[in-house]
Amino acid sequence: MDAREMKIKAAAAALAHVENGMRLGIGTGSTAEEFVRLLAEKVADGFRVEGVPTSERTARLCVELGVPLKSLDELPELDLTIDGADEVDARLTLIKGGGGALLREKIVAAASSRVIVIADESKLVETLGAFALPIEVNIFGLVATRIAIEKTASKLGLSGSLDLRQSGDGNFTTDGGHYIIDASFGRIPDAEALSSQLNAIPGVVEHGLFLNMAALAIIAGPAGVRELRATR
Ligand code: A5P
Repeated sequence: MDAREMKIKAAAAALAHVENGMRLGIGTGSTAEEFVRLLAEKVADGFRVEGVPTSERTARLCVELGVPLKSLDELPELDLTIDGADEVDARLTLIKGGGGALLREKIVAAASSRVIVIADESKLVETLGAFALPIEVNIFGLVATRIAIEKTASKLGLSGSLDLRQSGDGNFTTDGGHYIIDASFGRIPDAEALSSQLNAIPGVVEHGLFLNMAALAIIAGPAGVRELRATR
């Protein structure tokens, strides 16, 4: 089974949790896109759902495939969000933002009664941090914010390159008009501490550590699909 097939399996298993009439947060990334494709087939068969997309990219795919959309302001309380992740640990703490949509993803997840993460098993890790942590920053004061991130990380014993994400021939810009710094810490043993310290830096808009948000992870591998539940 290749990576795409695993993503489709995870997406299909997540679809079983979606009930008719639900207000649904719809994630971003290649795994979430497989979910959108499967959801669109159900919608075409008469299944009712109202989706809130977590990015312009997801919104475009939903419109193209006929999945009905609302804005988060129109639907500020959601029943369920289905989204991908870049890393998932056993406590269902996540690193997200590889696709640059972490801010909207976090806002939508926080507005949802339940969050289900879908991923292939390459995303399961013992300790977070091998995937560079995306940190969304305000363009104003970029250099000062970068220095503040470096100092904060150092106090927590973390080091590694802080790379301004690039796209084409310029800096990558998020849907919210911000930049992303990818922090290659290698290991993040204390995600809670890093999360709260990053949130205390004024130029940091959001970061890709998702703590206590996912209730369930649906992980697909060659041997089949596993469900991991949050223990809190
Ligand atoms: C988007 O910003 C991310 O949070 C994605 O959910 C994450 O990068 C997973 O993407 P893939 O499903 O493409 O691996």
